[in-house]
Amino acid sequence: MEYGIAMRQRMGETWAILRQFSPGPLGPLERRRTISNKTLTLTPQVYKYLVRQGMREPDVLRNLREATSAQAGLAAGMQISPEQGAFMGMLASLMGARKTLEAGVFTGYSAAAVALALPDDGTVVACDISDKWSGLAREYWELAGVADKIDLRIAPAIQTMDALVDAGESGTFDFIFLDAEKTEYAAYYERALALLRPGGLVAIDNVLWNGSVADDTVIDTDTVAIRAFNEMVRHDDRVALSMVPIADGLTLAQKK
Ligand SMILES: C[S@@+](CC[C@H](N)C(=O)[O-])C[C@H]1O[C@@H](n2cnc3c(N)ncnc32)[C@H](O)[C@@H]1O
Repeated sequence: MEYGIAMRQRMGETWAILRQFSPGPLGPLERRRTISNKTLTLTPQVYKYLVRQGMREPDVLRNLREATSAQAGLAAGMQISPEQGAFMGMLASLMGARKTLEAGVFTGYSAAAVALALPDDGTVVACDISDKWSGLAREYWELAGVADKIDLRIAPAIQTMDALVDAGESGTFDFIFLDAEKTEYAAYYERALALLRPGGLVAIDNVLWNGSVADDTVIDTDTVAIRAFNEMVRHDDRVALSMVPIADGLTLAQKK
């Protein structure tokens, strides 16, 4: 494998030298060199391009991002990114999702992004332990026309999910998004699998944790918890798995 990478690098250098003497249209092999079969490291320039060209963020969601940034300052970094919102909305739409849940609401961007993709009778049970930002969330849910779809429950997410299981709602949810306390991911995940229908999807945020999960020298509580969670999901035969390198990393686990 390493030998292959080294060979490709050497060939790339050779091509670069040859092209100085023979400019002209790119040949098929050389064109191949200009693309990558690995996920790109996004430079700020490429990221800006992605956000500009790759989605149509509704004005109301962009305004919510700006209001969150103005009011929450650094904490605004907790919000999902616009490309992730577009991606999750599309997933929900592709699945024909109707009944959804999220753990971790903050100012309501992810809930709104998913709710906008649901049919008129679609619902989001939105779980957050704090109502500090619920006023801002509700304001923008109203503006987005999705307030009626979102059922905000202020309580620990585990408690709300357990209550849904106890109420006989197991196996009835289409899509669940986990973005609350990182050390509780494993507990949310078990409840999510109980609540999802077969074929339903649980999406788990921040699974790359700014890259620290891949660095064994980082051993803070959140990193260790996410690393252990990722390892557990990798071996979980109850789901089909795809970790997507969007934003801070999003694991998609589809219940079999
Ligand atoms: C990363 S933010 C969520 C961001 C949100 N998904 C968005 O798109 O803006 C995490 C949220 O989880 C909430 N939270 C933390 N612990 C929780 C718990 N045990 N149960 C429910 N929510 C919790 C926090 O109050 C915070 O609002």
